[in-house]
Amino acid sequence: MSEVFAVEHPLIDHHLTVLRDENTSPALFRQQIRRLATLLAYTATSDLPTTSKAIRTPMTQMVGSELSVRVAIVPILRAGLGMVEPLQELLPEAEVWHLGMYRDERTATPVEYYCKLPQGGACDIGFVLDPMLATGGSVISALETLARWGCPDLRVLSIIAARPGVERLTREFPQVKIYVAAVDPELNEHKFIVPGLGDAGDRIFNTPPSN
Ligand code: PRP
Repeated sequence: MSEVFAVEHPLIDHHLTVLRDENTSPALFRQQIRRLATLLAYTATSDLPTTSKAIRTPMTQMVGSELSVRVAIVPILRAGLGMVEPLQELLPEAEVWHLGMYRDERTATPVEYYCKLPQGGACDIGFVLDPMLATGGSVISALETLARWGCPDLRVLSIIAARPGVERLTREFPQVKIYVAAVDPELNEHKFIVPGLGDAGDRIFNTPPSN
């Protein structure tokens, strides 16, 4: 069974409310995405392995620690781009690989339009970024690609997920850890999350809704 971490914190509640508000401007929306991604990343990285590292401070010698895994950050275009910067800030050595996917408006199924992963899996842990997990189709398609690529430990960071999408994801990828700021109860007839926040990609990039 997948582990679903619905991260609870007063800062998450506060920033999520600003994010959901339809009066929030694109500029503030982008900031909120970054703030929430940072808070999710704090939990999602809490078990990363480290090794000892001897250093000298200006005062004395000491043994500290350093991360000992190869990390990939994988945003799902477009909306996942909004979460990259805070992850890169925290994991400056990570590689960033982009997966382009949009949801067909009629069928709500994902269509892949960009994927240029290097040959032969190059990471130990992959963080898949997408602010929205609705039916789960886009994230599942990304995980299938990354599992084939060869990343053994895949983790999903989504700001808002819908319960049906989480249930589907946990059924299809029981080994994957999922970190979310909120799990909303349902999808509407257009497969949008309710109450949700609308279309994250459009709100991040200030583009008109496509449907
Ligand atoms: C949205 C969102 C997810 C996907 C979620 O992307 O950012 O990628 O839909 O839906 P799902 O869980 O049902 O697959 P969209 O297709 O609107 O593309 P965009 O990021 O370019 O706006």
